[in-house]
Amino acid sequence: MLGANCRVHSLICFAVPELKVLIPRQQIAERVAAMGAEITRDFSGQSVILVGVLKGAAIFLSDLARHVELDSTFDFIGVSSYGVRPSPAQELKSGWDSTGEVQVTKDVDQSMKGKNVILVEDILDTGLTLTFLKKLFAAHQPKAFRIAALLDKPSRRKLAISADYVGFSIPDEFVVGYGLDYAERYRNLPDICIVPRES
Ligand code: IMP
Ligand code: MG
Repeated sequence: MLGANCRVHSLICFAVPELKVLIPRQQIAERVAAMGAEITRDFSGQSVILVGVLKGAAIFLSDLARHVELDSTFDFIGVSSYGVRPSPAQELKSGWDSTGEVQVTKDVDQSMKGKNVILVEDILDTGLTLTFLKKLFAAHQPKAFRIAALLDKPSRRKLAISADYVGFSIPDEFVVGYGLDYAERYRNLPDICIVPRES
């Protein structure tokens, strides 16, 4: 049974027809606004650089940024993991357990030295990606470094890392929508939906 908010997208759900809404768009909007307000308060009177991790954080960053009432600029970084990429079906079943080696596919356009950097990520899963990025940004010597993750799956963590701003803590489910993909699809769903593992 499709969740009501995903029904409009059922035509593109040919590969995974049974998406279930986990977090509806209204709830996402309220939480993202609250996260923006928190960042605004924490960096009151200062400038920040919002750095989005491509591609999953693109939608989150664009909504979050509109609730950050500070002098702000954007940047983006692209990463991919080394190792044998699982098939989409395997990724769905057991997640993407990379070897831990992450590669930068698109670097930031500017030095972060002395700046307030807020890394904006779609989901904190095993923690391998953000652990790598945290070290990478530390080398830039920013004034402050914070992580804003829309979703957190704490039960999947392999490395001890946490985000400073977390939208929602979720169970170990494979989710899509609001920027998150399954084999590059479903990023444009307005709600965050669960892809059933048995499909
Ligand atoms: P980590 O390095 O294991 O923390 O993985 C983070 C990345 O894995 C995210 O940026 C996503 O691209 C991907 N990922 C993890 N869980 C999910 C999910 O449930 N749906 C879609 N992508 C996911
Ligand atoms: Mg992905």
